[in-house]
Amino acid sequence: MKKRIKPILLALLALLVIIQFFQIDKTNPPHDTTKDFITIQNPPQEVATLLQDACYDCHSHLTEYPWYTNVQPLAWWIKDHINDGRRHLNFSTWADLNAKRKARKAEELVEMVSEEEMPLKSFTWTHPEARLTNLQRKKMVDWLKTVETKEKKAVTGLPALKPAEGVEE
Ligand code: HEC
Repeated sequence: MKKRIKPILLALLALLVIIQFFQIDKTNPPHDTTKDFITIQNPPQEVATLLQDACYDCHSHLTEYPWYTNVQPLAWWIKDHINDGRRHLNFSTWADLNAKRKARKAEELVEMVSEEEMPLKSFTWTHPEARLTNLQRKKMVDWLKTVETKEKKAVTGLPALKPAEGVEE
């Protein structure tokens, strides 16, 4: 038995060494401030900082890559989250969304943050600054709700009475 384990371990070790040569692409696409969510929506400073610390690494072109994103296969898994995060919601290109999509994303934002789905747990393990206290979460949600109301109003063109219903993708 022991005789077989050694070659297997060596093979695994060799594989681990080889995959280190397949680094992820860390070039951030251009970030146009004039299209940026924070620039456009202008949250209170505290909320802006929270968004940058807790969300922008996966949902914008301002991703910061920590040292362990040099280590495979961990980095592949992280890069996957970034690609997926940007695909679902990209704060760097907020201005490119049409009115309906802005309203839809604003609604998702309120939902994801209030239900504590975001930021992802795996992210807060290594990013203490992204661990939102209850108060911080509440401040973020309260502000996001004002964005939701505003964006839904922009879709219906009606005053705030009933804009919330029926706004789909
Ligand atoms: C570690 C990466 C990561 C971080 C940090 C992160 N997200 Fe996400 N987010 C994702 C991924 C991946 C998805 C898509 C898959 C899913 O829904 O779980 C997503 C989905 C979302 C969606 C759904 C978008 C849609 O329309 O489908 C919203 C809204 C969202 N995130 C908001 C936030 C907010 C707000 C923060 C900060 C408080 C945040 N996220 C932090 C990775 C991240």
